[in-house]
Amino acid sequence: MPAPPPSPPGAGHDQAAGFAATWLRANCPCGRCRDPASGQRLVSLTDLPAQVRVAAMAESGGELRITFWPDGHEAAFSRSWLARQSAPAADERTEGAKRLWTAAAFPDGPPGWPWPEYQARDAVRLAGLAALLRDGMMLLRGVPAEPGAVLAVAGSMGYVRETNYGRLFDVRVTATPSNLAFTGLPIAPHTDNPYRDPVPTVQLLHCLAGAAAGGDSGLVDGFAAAGLLRREDPDAFGILAGTPVTFAYADDATELRATRPVIGLDPAGQIREIRFNNRSMEPWRPGGAADGPDPVASAAAFYAAARAFAEILARPALMLTFRLEPGDCVAFDNTRVLHARTGFAATGTRHLQGCYADLDGVSSTVGVLRRRTPA
Ligand code: OGA
Ligand code: ZN
Ligand code: ZN
Repeated sequence: MPAPPPSPPGAGHDQAAGFAATWLRANCPCGRCRDPASGQRLVSLTDLPAQVRVAAMAESGGELRITFWPDGHEAAFSRSWLARQSAPAADERTEGAKRLWTAAAFPDGPPGWPWPEYQARDAVRLAGLAALLRDGMMLLRGVPAEPGAVLAVAGSMGYVRETNYGRLFDVRVTATPSNLAFTGLPIAPHTDNPYRDPVPTVQLLHCLAGAAAGGDSGLVDGFAAAGLLRREDPDAFGILAGTPVTFAYADDATELRATRPVIGLDPAGQIREIRFNNRSMEPWRPGGAADGPDPVASAAAFYAAARAFAEILARPALMLTFRLEPGDCVAFDNTRVLHARTGFAATGTRHLQGCYADLDGVSSTVGVLRRRTPA
């Protein structure tokens, strides 16, 4: 593509008020550039002149009026809107936007609210869902211990994510378990469904009946754990962030696989997503950015790194342990908080129902609740 012609002398400036002329033109709020009803942009970037300059600028009543070269297009920007655009872009999914924790921060278990109040009062629902985004978990008490009630909880925060397990799934001991969750075995800290892309970003577990003994729940802040790994063993952190790992699940009707690193980073290198599940992790294979020249050594380094992370996840100081009672429903960020349980007698009546939902829906619900809830 030919380079745009140089702008002639006197065409104007390449910036105004600290914003590039091209930035200002791309974000012109006028009715020809943006649909006044929806606020959505009407013109594509390729419709705009490749070379844009500020030919004239005037300020009045908190408004900056700009005339652009070469086509004389006019834009009016409110100064307060411009000021807000100078704040750095914030990805609320990364570690910097979260309150990281260890078990000591929650001596009474996950932040909890009574379900009837959560349903009746916007301020309570907002507090609960804000905790889910900030701390990665929330607990609702007094959800009727009836089959299907977990779907109402998911619907209160966003949308149910239906999967091959159905809109909801039962967690109880079965005769021929397709998943170790359906036995009485203990389960080490993990994220669910890492073999899916996109992964379900919220998981709910609702207790209908508890075990006589055992079956206690554990939650670990995976961002805090990965942060510890970064500090204690930076090489291991780099390996888990730079090695694509395949997770897989198959049964008679299903064949799922996804290949992603255990620690997912944003473009600035901040922790954004944890995928960790010993049950469904496929063998290490070569080809990752973290590989060295020798695949045997790379494989050994990967398993050492995964082990170092698993050891941090297993530290009692990190794991918040609590017991789900009938009527309790815990929801957590499945891209951040790992869940676990202790073993229990396979002959008992323990019965949980679970379902998946997504963080985008939770964020949207929080945004709408904030609009109408006085601070
Ligand atoms: C699960 C799971 C935990 C439990 O079903 O994904 O991890 O407490 N269950 O049974
Ligand atoms: Zn315009
Ligand atoms: Zn699980």
